Amino acid sequence: MDESQAFKGSADVATDVANAPLALRGDKLVKRFGAVTALDGVSLTLGKGEILGVLGDNGAGKSTLVKILTGFHQQTGGTLSIDGQETLLRSVDHARSLGIECVYQDLALANSLSIYHNMFLNRELVRRGPFKLLDHKQMRERAAQCLDDIGVHVPSVDLPVERLSGGQRQAIAVARAVHSNAKILLLDEPLAAMGAREAGLIIDLILRLKEKGGLSIIMIMHNYAQTLDIADRVMLMQRGRVTYEQKSALTSVAELMDIVRREYRAMRATSAP
Ligand SMILES: Nc1ncnc2c1ncn2[C@@H]1O[C@H](COP(=O)(O)OP(=O)(O)OP(=O)(O)O)[C@@H](O)[C@H]1O
Ligand SMILES: [Mg+2]
Repeated sequence: MDESQAFKGSADVATDVANAPLALRGDKLVKRFGAVTALDGVSLTLGKGEILGVLGDNGAGKSTLVKILTGFHQQTGGTLSIDGQETLLRSVDHARSLGIECVYQDLALANSLSIYHNMFLNRELVRRGPFKLLDHKQMRERAAQCLDDIGVHVPSVDLPVERLSGGQRQAIAVARAVHSNAKILLLDEPLAAMGAREAGLIIDLILRLKEKGGLSIIMIMHNYAQTLDIADRVMLMQRGRVTYEQKSALTSVAELMDIVRREYRAMRATSAP
């Protein structure tokens, strides 16, 4: 093989990697709420099997971005591609049908209901026959199996969710999303208001889900160190824009803090009277 052929070969490999279908791609996403521009041209990619950590100040637009990716809000401008197909997500149900699931910042669990019931909320299993009775036995067994599969341990799936700790509840919410065959999982501050032990439980769960494969994850986070520990790539947002993006292995807490500090200084300088 001469040199030009060898070069062509490696270029082809590079092109293949670049063309590998992404789980998700957003191009110049804009979201306005009246006079407020929550997203001001956000572009992002999520590779298959990748974990992307999104960091940013309060009001940066992180939750708005997630809500667009789940079909809860529709973007004012820009495009979204899911698995290589340009798609306008019409609703949360539409996004779900494409395998996009979200665990929201304010968890949507029914606290007085049992763990297994929560895992089948709005998609309860019914027994065959004319009376459409709920199939509690099936739901119990499947919920226990699903939790076991992803290493979430609870004393009994019959326990009401209100008897669980914050971390366990978050784990149930994640398990519920995964159980419904999610391909893309969006986590809006999965570690919010958690102690170190509870956060550890969720971090382990996220890492186990990654190991199992087949799932791409975007998680909104506040803690830089935890984000770099879990995510393959990090993205910083400020005032509706992406201000920095890097592979976790190629950046550090110090660098991220430095970037944010500089952004603040620039912002203060421009908004000074
Ligand atoms: N439904 C809405 N109607 C009007 N404005 C909204 C709405 N949702 C968000 N906003 C505004 O959009 C901006 C971005 O909000 P968003 O909730 O996305 O921020 P965030 O980065 O998730 O912040 P936090 O870290 O506090 O959760 C804010 O100025 C917010 O007030
Ligand atoms: Mg938010």
